Amino acid sequence: MKKIVVKPTEELKGVITLPGDKSISHRAVMIGSIARGITRVRNFLDSQDCRRTINAFRMLGINIRKDKNELIVEGRGLKGLSKPKGPIYLGNSGTSIRLLSGILAGQKFSSRLRADSSLSKRPMKRIIDPLKLMGAEIRSTPGLRSECYPPLEIQGRELRSIKYNTKLASAQVKSAILLAGLFGRGLTKVGEPAKSRDHTERMLKFFGADISVKDKTVSLRSGELKGRSVDIPGDISSAAFFLAAAGLNKGSSLKLCSVGLNPTRTAILDVLRQMGVRIKIVNRHSKNFEPRGDVIVKKGTLRGIKISGSIIPGIIDEIPLVMVIASLAKGRTVIEDAGELRVKETDRISSMVSNLKILGADIKESKDGALIQGVDCLSGGRVKSFGDHRTAMSMVIAGLNAKGKTVIENTACIDTSFPGFMDTFKKISS
Ligand code: S3P
Repeated sequence: MKKIVVKPTEELKGVITLPGDKSISHRAVMIGSIARGITRVRNFLDSQDCRRTINAFRMLGINIRKDKNELIVEGRGLKGLSKPKGPIYLGNSGTSIRLLSGILAGQKFSSRLRADSSLSKRPMKRIIDPLKLMGAEIRSTPGLRSECYPPLEIQGRELRSIKYNTKLASAQVKSAILLAGLFGRGLTKVGEPAKSRDHTERMLKFFGADISVKDKTVSLRSGELKGRSVDIPGDISSAAFFLAAAGLNKGSSLKLCSVGLNPTRTAILDVLRQMGVRIKIVNRHSKNFEPRGDVIVKKGTLRGIKISGSIIPGIIDEIPLVMVIASLAKGRTVIEDAGELRVKETDRISSMVSNLKILGADIKESKDGALIQGVDCLSGGRVKSFGDHRTAMSMVIAGLNAKGKTVIENTACIDTSFPGFMDTFKKISS
């Protein structure tokens, strides 16, 4: 099993460009496939999760190929998908299974979606309920408290549009309903309790959809989309590991180029700034439909903060990393309202708390978050990824700031979202 051995690093210096945003990469393939004509995608994230989405659409009859540094998707329009020859395997990818379900709900054929052991334990009722209301027939594996798990069997139907308020602020749920809404008659409206990432709305608009957003409600009318050229910004969730590393290490100064700065994703910058990391943004601009810029980061004096409420959906993927920084910040950090972390690739509250305790952090698990009292230093130890890419990478950052050697076991999962993660580190470490 692949493992990473990390030793403490002092200065991190240099200029790096991050791989493409994972959420936007998935959507470019999905929306490109159901649009009419060619979609060209630059800076596509060639990671395991995103390759699952490519494979799924190939199985649905879409020609997708690489041409130099672009991914070419030969979209066949809203009615252009064909019945897959066998079950579609989506591995570890929650975004693939949930968003694809929305598209498959509106097809004239049935499909079966399979998942790896981690994704097979992740909740699907959140998308099944609204998709059934729209008319789809979906079978799943029943679980406790009427929860539903993959594999999913989706019998597509002619869909009706719905007005739906989600209980959770989840971009995956919102996007599944919107994508299904493309196949419904009339107006689909989705409201959410707090704003989740809005890449689907932005991309649908760019591809010509009749879509509008007012506060936390999105309205969409069905209609054909047209293939476009998409340039994907660097993934801010991947950038976050380097922001944290530089923020924790003396004498560090890093420039991260062309990072996605969509306001529904930049909460991590606000949180890091509040915790004392010095961050400056230069060269802000918009390409296609997503804002971006270069982020310059330097170490500051770190302090604990409270993170709760409506900021949580915007920082959900970065909370494991915030737990690492909080472990070394002065004072107390309180994380609340983050129960969703328990149903990610692993239970990220328990995986991070148990790992950080091994390194000597003062951290306690709560029902929906953690209580962390910063310590002066962590010490090296042997920790586990639990098969979760973000847990693995967060523990690399912890290891860089621990005395002695830290071994992170089972790190092949990093390829899920960030192939080349350790090579990028090597480039900037002294
Ligand atoms: C994602 C949405 C988030 C996030 C995930 C990617 C997306 O999940 O955690 O990594 O691409 O829509 P939820 O919508 O379940 O919060």
